[in-house]
Amino acid sequence: MELSANAKINLTLDILRRREDGYHDLQMVMQAVTLADTLTVTPAQGAEGQAVSDLHFLPTGDKNLAQMAAAAFREAAGLGGEVDVSIQKHIPVCAGLAGGSADAAAVLIAMNRLTGAGLSPAGLAKIGERVGSDVPFCVLGGTALAEGRGELLTPLSSLPPCHIVICKPPFSISTPQLFGRVNVRKIVRRPDTAGVIAALDAGDLAGVARRMYNVFEDVLERRRSAEINEIKAALIDCGALGASMSGSGPSVFGLFDSRDSAQNACARLRETYRDVFLCAPAR
Ligand code: C5P
Repeated sequence: MELSANAKINLTLDILRRREDGYHDLQMVMQAVTLADTLTVTPAQGAEGQAVSDLHFLPTGDKNLAQMAAAAFREAAGLGGEVDVSIQKHIPVCAGLAGGSADAAAVLIAMNRLTGAGLSPAGLAKIGERVGSDVPFCVLGGTALAEGRGELLTPLSSLPPCHIVICKPPFSISTPQLFGRVNVRKIVRRPDTAGVIAALDAGDLAGVARRMYNVFEDVLERRRSAEINEIKAALIDCGALGASMSGSGPSVFGLFDSRDSAQNACARLRETYRDVFLCAPAR
């Protein structure tokens, strides 16, 4: 069975409080995008399932999120044998785009079909919670408000059709370390989450774009922050209606109403960066 696994971007990311369990309560407007990995899921050849990808440095055994998802499905549904998963990666890894979570979600969807278990998307999302905080959203896709650890999802009005340019600078940021740098009481700038939701309801792309923000941008190391701001400025300069960092970074994206402007932004960013993608909202 072949499936595609869509990346996500954060139109907003706000951190409300640190919890007793070490996680943080978040409030994020999440959007699935057409930048996607391709997965092939088949019954395992050997006694144990394998996850392989075309990126040699990704874990292949039970540390691979796709294999963790297969194990979580078997345990929760009490159904399904071992599976081999082959992943063609297009979503950059450790990028704030939920690449690993997207693959895990695709495996849950594949196993649900292969076994005929007939679980609802909400049921699959619940299983996904054990694999990672972004997996439930990746199961449901579209546009949603994610709260709690990221697992409490409310579908939102779709992002109006637009062109999305994503640029990942060549460094990675550790998500737990970045959470560790946040002092919730000292957050000065926050996204206008309610305003973004109202703009989505009104079908107002520019209204969404101008209210986007990610509180992690305030706690980046100085030189990282400078680079993120340069990419945002280049996107805006090329005509983006708004630009923001996604997740725990370092990917930065811009929303465009004009395809020509988005293509120009890609060409300009490709002079400096290898990982630049032009994509669209995925429903
Ligand atoms: O759930 P996931 O494995 O993706 O989370 C990775 C790490 O990010 C967690 O171990 C935690 O340190 C941090 N995290 C958090 N609050 C969240 C989600 C993740 O502190 N809501």
